[in-house]
This record gives sequence, structure tokens and C-alpha cells, in this order.
Amino acid sequence: MPKISVGILGATGMVGQTLIQLLGDHPWFKVTELAASDKSAGSRYEDIMGTRWNISSDIPEYAKDMEIKTCEPKLDCDIVLSALDSSVAGPVEEQFAKAGYAVSSNAKNHRMDQDVPLLIPEINPDHVDLIGEQRKRRGWEGFIVTDPNCSTIHLALALKPLYDRFGLEKVMVTTMQALSGAGYPGVSSMDITDNVIPFINDEEDKVEIEPVKILGKAINGKIKYADIGISAQCNRVAVKYGHTECASVKLGKKATKEDLIRAFEEFRPNKQLKLPSAPQRPVVYIDKENRPQPKLDVNTQNGMASTVGRLRPCKILDYKFVVLGHNLVRGAAGAAILNAELLKVKGYIS
Ligand SMILES: NC(=O)c1ccc[n+]([C@@H]2O[C@H](COP(=O)([O-])OP(=O)(O)OC[C@H]3O[C@@H](n4cnc5c(N)ncnc54)[C@H](OP(=O)(O)O)[C@@H]3O)[C@@H](O)[C@H]2O)c1
Repeated sequence: MPKISVGILGATGMVGQTLIQLLGDHPWFKVTELAASDKSAGSRYEDIMGTRWNISSDIPEYAKDMEIKTCEPKLDCDIVLSALDSSVAGPVEEQFAKAGYAVSSNAKNHRMDQDVPLLIPEINPDHVDLIGEQRKRRGWEGFIVTDPNCSTIHLALALKPLYDRFGLEKVMVTTMQALSGAGYPGVSSMDITDNVIPFINDEEDKVEIEPVKILGKAINGKIKYADIGISAQCNRVAVKYGHTECASVKLGKKATKEDLIRAFEEFRPNKQLKLPSAPQRPVVYIDKENRPQPKLDVNTQNGMASTVGRLRPCKILDYKFVVLGHNLVRGAAGAAILNAELLKVKGYIS
């Protein structure tokens, strides 16, 4: 079968390079175009990435000689995966959708639009059908789908099995987010060394609102948000990869610790979708007193799973636990690829 051609917008950034690495030998997709800002456009990819390539394996051979283009909708591809800075992603992604491209975005700009799916294929694959409403309302031939914020994805994956079995009323979460989550060059070393920064612009709002859309129900082309109160505090810490989140939850009904562990361990959704990048187990419970840790667990299931541990009773709500996940893989590039795979399975791209 011929592969579906993919363009990467924001190919020089942290998420863009992770997309390039993950798509190297993808069974369905082939990268045909790389694009970034005017200052990068016209350059050979390897030349411009010299000191900016941040992944321990080398730049894949296929990408080295590719010329970086500008982010205009005249790229030779069927779908664009957008890893654009949010200062430009909004209008650029709209231009591509208007011109007939499918857009799978990592950026925040369209996530909460009423007619834009905010997808985690293991949780809400049916939300993809908002695309029909989006095309109708906006008169676009193409469309935009989005993946959630890098902390939201892991929190939502951990909450989903609890929400389904016991209901959820309240969630309090404190995040410790990796430096690579701030893009390149990110936070200055003088600011973060020996330090924790208790502020990430816009982050708390995203972590509080996105999960209720994701866990919501699609009814007649609209999402009815889940009725869960979420309070978030977000911090930047001196860790390179992996966001750690300490969550406390109030359940809708009584459950034992063993019930919760079983819910995490038995969470095996949507096997029938057969998405090549989907982890066998989206949530991996680690039963060790000092885990999960970014250093040891961030690459669980090739970075596509969320790890959960330290489950124990909470004196204020019902239970508390720690969630950890890779911000660049499952939290961004891997999520956008998984969404593109869902689009193929659902017949939105071919
Ligand atoms: N890092 C994470 O863990 C993470 C997780 C989830 C979502 N996200 C989101 O994913 C997106 C990319 O994040 P990142 O961490 O990869 O950021 P980044 O390292 O700062 O990369 C930003 C990319 O956007 C391009 N860009 C900037 N201004 C542009 C313009 N005017 N026109 C065209 N391209 C432009 C840059 O190209 P040049 O190099 O040419 O300037 C670069 O390729 C952001 O929206 C971010 O919020 C990031």
C-alpha cells in the first residue's frame, strides 16, 4: 500500500524533531515535507539542526538532506503534523485546513474550539466525528484535530479508568514539568539550575479544562463536558524529559485500593482500532514505593504509556497517586501521530 505523505510544521523545534525521529520507519506514513519559520526556510535540515538536535540518536538519514520550506499551504503532502509555536499555530493551521489539508496539531490554539476534536484515541476516538461539524460550520475541505497539553494527556489517561469504574468528582494535581516541555532553547540555565519555578504560562488553565472535554460525551456534533472539578498547580523543574504529576481524587463511589489498581491494570481500550503507535498498555501501574521516576520510567512502552504509582489513601479526598509520562513522545509527537493513525482508520485520510 502506498504510504500517506506527511508534512511537519515546526520541524526544527523539540516536538518537530521528535516527530522526525518517530516517523522514520512508520508503516503507514512517509515524511515528504519539513517546514519552519522564514529564518530556517531554504536550509538543508542537517545544516540548520547542527547544535539544535536534542535526541540521543542521530538525525534520521531521510531527513538530513531535506530542504526546510515555509509554512504555507503549498506543501506536497496529505496531512500536516503541526509542532508550531503557539504564537503562530492558530492562523497557520487554519490556512492549511482551509486549503484542504488534514491537520493534526500539538499546539494549544484550537484545542478548546467547540468543533475541534481534542483527541486521545484510547479515551475518546468517537470525538473525531466533530470533523463533520467543523467542515460544515467553517466551509473547509480540510480540518484540524488536536492533541492535549503534555501534562493533560498523562493525567487524563490515568483518570479515565477511574472515571469509568467509579466516577470522579474532584481532582487536585500538582505537576513537576520537564525543561524540554518549554521548547528550545527553553528556560535559561541561570533560572532553572538549583531551582523550581512555580509558574508556567497558561498551563494550569489547560490542565484544569482540557480533561473535562476529553472525558466528555460527543452528542449531536457537540461535546458535553464531564462534570469533574479540577484544580492544578504547575511547576517547572530541572528534569530534561518527563512530567511528574501528584494527583488526589474524589471518586463518585467507594472503592478499595485494590479496585483502583485493577482499574489501572485492566485498562486496555480500543484494541480493535489497531493503531501502530498505540502502547499495549496505556497506563502501567508500578508497585514500588519510590516510583515512577522520570529517570527510570519515562520511556515505558517506548514513551507512549503513562506510568502510575504510589497509590494511597488521601486524608482530604479519597486517594492520591503519582503519574509520570514523556512530554515529547506521548505528551506531543507520539500523540499527534496516534491521532493521524486514528484519522486513517476512521477514513478521514487515505
Ligand atoms: N515541548 C513539549 O513537550 C510540548 C508538548 C506538548 C505540546 N507542545 C506544543 O508543541 C508546539 C511546539 O513546541 P516545541 O517545544 O517543539 O517548541 P520549539 O522547540 O520552540 O519549536 C517551535 C517551532 O515553531 C517554529 N516557528 C516559530 N515561529 C514561527 C513562525 N513565525 N513561522 C513558522 N514557524 C515558526 C520554529 O521554527 P524556527 O526554528 O525556524 O524558529 C520551531 O520549528 C508548541 O505549540 C507547544 O506548545 C510542546
